[in-house]
Parts: sequence; structure tokens; C-alpha cells
Amino acid sequence: MKERVVVVTGGAQGIGYAIAKRFAEAGDFVAIADLNEEKAMQAARQLGDSARGFRLDITDSSAISAFVKELIEEKGQIDVLVNNAGLQHRDKIEDFPEEMWRQLIDVLLTGPFLMTKAVLPFMKERRNGRIINISSVHGEVATPEKSAYVSAKHGLLGFTKTAAIETATHGITVNAVLPGPVATDLLMRQIHGLMNEHRLSEEEALAAVMYPRQPMQRFIQPEEIANTVFFLASEGAGAITGEEISVSGGM
Ligand SMILES: NC(=O)c1ccc[n+]([C@@H]2O[C@H](COP(=O)([O-])OP(=O)(O)OC[C@H]3O[C@@H](n4cnc5c(N)ncnc54)[C@H](O)[C@@H]3O)[C@@H](O)[C@H]2O)c1
Repeated sequence: MKERVVVVTGGAQGIGYAIAKRFAEAGDFVAIADLNEEKAMQAARQLGDSARGFRLDITDSSAISAFVKELIEEKGQIDVLVNNAGLQHRDKIEDFPEEMWRQLIDVLLTGPFLMTKAVLPFMKERRNGRIINISSVHGEVATPEKSAYVSAKHGLLGFTKTAAIETATHGITVNAVLPGPVATDLLMRQIHGLMNEHRLSEEEALAAVMYPRQPMQRFIQPEEIANTVFFLASEGAGAITGEEISVSGGM
């Protein structure tokens, strides 16, 4: 199969890195675009010639334009965009700092909008493109103290459906993947926070916050998310657009 050019935001670690690895191992070129430049470079080095690290803040539209321009000049195309970058903040609504609310909405919702806006003209011109938005089970359900995250992840599903309709006759598909609990920094910081707050062991924290709602009672592996993203980017998934696929162990 011909090498595709794949952009993975937040690809320096966690789920994004597993996604980048999946594409690189299949012979595609992956641009790992992450706020953490050092980790992005290190991740790309681990993947060899098929990957390159970029420092990118997905909330900064001029930085995004420069990034897309550079990639198009170098590679001539962008075939796949995976909007994966993310972060979490937990607080009751009345204690939730306004700047954290704005930051989460900016990274989790406005970032995918800005990235999609920047790549669409090139995808439309070539009548070819795959956009995969990493939402969350929190795109469909709520948990206390995660108002910004839950709002943004619900919003990302609305954006996915709108983008799917707008691009459906242009050879482009837009879908969302909804991961369940994956043991990355993002989740383990929350588990450790709960352990400290409520003096729980790791097992107790997992049992309290995760397992009651997760029938498989295990973490989802980053590779399990990556395999679904890879499928949605494949030719065989060409008729799937505007969909939400939960990879959560039955949540
Ligand atoms: N871990 C889980 O349990 C879980 C569950 C559901 C959904 N998700 C979603 O999966 C995605 C990846 O999460 P993860 O668990 O791998 O997290 P992670 O914290 O391990 O990785 C997130 C990456 O995003 C990058 N990032 C943050 N802000 C950025 C910005 N402004 N611009 C560019 N990059 C930025 C970080 O530097 C980091 O490399 C997120 O969208 C997250 O909401 C995770």
C-alpha cells in the first residue's frame, strides 16, 4: 500500500503514541504534533524514519497554519488527521477555575476544529481524507467534577457529525473513537489524586471510580484504541462517516 501522511496530535505519549506507532509500523509517515517538543522528538526517533516530531500547540491557529504548510511542502499531502491531544482537570463546578475551563475547551474542542479547518482544503482538493477524533466515553456519559472535559467530549461528537456531513461528498470521512479507561498519565494522575484525597489503595480507587461502570473490569490497552483508529483510516472503512465507536470494554 502507498505511504500515507498521517498527523497525530498529542502523539508524544499515551494513546497518541500507540496510534502513531500503528501507522508507522504499517509503512505510513507520521507527523507527531505535540506541545511537548522533547517527547515528540523522542517518540519520532523511536519510530525511525517513518515519523517526525513537531512542536505544536493545537490551540494556536497561526502555529497550525505554519505546521500544515511545512508538512504539505515536504510531503505534498495530508491523508489522515487524528485529533487526539488532551488533558484533564477535576473540580466541582463552583470551584472549577475559569482558566482551566477555557483551557480544556480550547484543547479538547477548539483544537480539533482548528486542525480540521487547516487540513480540509488540502483533503478536499485531493478528494481524499480521513479524520478521526478521539472523544471519550465521557462524550456520552457524565462523571462529577469533570464538567469541562465532559462538555468538550460531548461537543466533539457534535463537531464530528457536522464535519462528516460537510465532507461526505468530498471523499472524506470523519468519525469519533470513544476510549474507555486507558492507563496513561492522564488517567493515572486522576487515580493517584483519588488515592490521596480519600486515602485509598490503587485497587480501591480503581474499584470505586472505574470498575462499577466497566464490565470487562480491566484497562483498555492503547493498542486497542490504535487498531480502531487504523481501521477507520483504511480504505475498507470508506462508507463509515459521522459515527461514534466506543472502545471501552462495554461501557
Ligand atoms: N486515558 C484515558 O483513559 C482516556 C479515556 C478516554 C479518552 N481519552 C482521550 O485520549 C486522548 C489521549 O489521552 P492520553 O490518555 O493518551 O493522555 P496523555 O496525557 O498521556 O497524552 C496527551 C498528550 O497531549 C499533548 N497535549 C496536551 N495539550 C496539547 C496542546 N495544546 N497541543 C498539542 N498537544 C497537546 C500532551 O503533551 C500529551 O503528549 C485525549 O484526548 C483523552 O481525552 C483518554
